[in-house]
Amino acid sequence: MVIFKTVPDISALLRKGKVEGGIGYVPTMGALHDGHLSLIERSNRENEITVCSIFVNPTQFNDKSDFEKYPVKLEDDIALLINAGCDILFLPTVEEVYPSGADLKKYQLGTLETLWEGKYRAGHFQGVCQVMDRFLNIIQPDKLYLGQKDYQQCMVIQKLINLSGFNITLTICATVREESGLAMSSRNMRLSEKSKEAAIAIFGSLVYIKENINTTSVELMKDSINKNLLNSGFNSIDYIAICNAETLENIIEFNPSTPTVALIAAFIDGVRLIDNMLIS
Ligand code: PAJ
Repeated sequence: MVIFKTVPDISALLRKGKVEGGIGYVPTMGALHDGHLSLIERSNRENEITVCSIFVNPTQFNDKSDFEKYPVKLEDDIALLINAGCDILFLPTVEEVYPSGADLKKYQLGTLETLWEGKYRAGHFQGVCQVMDRFLNIIQPDKLYLGQKDYQQCMVIQKLINLSGFNITLTICATVREESGLAMSSRNMRLSEKSKEAAIAIFGSLVYIKENINTTSVELMKDSINKNLLNSGFNSIDYIAICNAETLENIIEFNPSTPTVALIAAFIDGVRLIDNMLIS
C-alpha cells in the first residue's frame, strides 16, 4: 500500500481514465473496524485500484468535544488496510485539505439538512459535503463506497454528486454488526462494556419496528421504544423516526408499498449512537 499525504502527490498518480479497471474510493475518519473493511473488500472486488482516505474532518463536527475525543488509531489502521488489500491510503493534514483562506462552499441540501441528523447536528452535513467535494475532486474515483449505517449521509453524498455533476457511481453497503446486533462504529470504542451491552437496545428497537409495523400504530411503537431505550440505560434520545426511505418525511400510517426506513439516534455514556433499518 502506498501512502500519500499531499494533494499534488496523489493527484499526479490518479488521473481519471488512466486506470482501466476503475478506481474505487472508501472515505473514512479512521479507527477502522470490520464495517470499514467490508467497504474496502467490496471496492477491491469491483475495481483495479482501491483508495481509502483517513481524515477526521473538523468541519463536520458540530460538537467540539466529540471531535477532540474522536479515536485515532493510525498504526492499527494502516496494518488493517494493508491486510485488507487496500492499494492507496490518502492521509492529508487539515491544512492540506483546507488551505488557509480557501472559501468553504455552501450546499443546497433542502430538507436533508432540516430533518433528523440535519436537525440535531446543525452544520454537520455542510461539513460532510465540504470534505467529500474536495476529496472526490482530488481522487476522481469511478465508484464510491459508503455504509448504510449512515443512511442520511448516503442521501446527502448522492445529492452532492448530482449537484456537483460528478461522474461517480455510489454503492451503499450493508451495515456490519457485532454478533449482538450492535452496529459497528468507531464511537463504540468509547463505551464501557456495560454500556456496549445496553446499546444493543437500539438494534432491538429496529427489529421490533420491523416485526410489528403491520399490526401496531407508528405512534405507539415510538412511545414504547422511547421508554424501553431510557429503561435500558440510554441517557437521552434525539429521535426515533419511521419515515419514507426516499424523502425521510415521517409516515403516519404504514403502507407496505411505500419504501420505509426506521432511524434512531440516542446518547449512552455521553456517546451518540445512530442506527437504521429498512422496513419495506
Ligand atoms: P466514518 O464514520 O469513519 O465512516 C466511513 C464509512 O464507513 C461511511 O461510509 C460509514 O457509513 C461506513 N461505516 C461505518 N460503520 C459501518 C458499519 N458498521 N457497517 C458498514 N459501514 C460502516 O462517515 C464518515 O466516516 C465521514 O462522515 C466521511 C464520509 C468519511 C466524511 O468525513
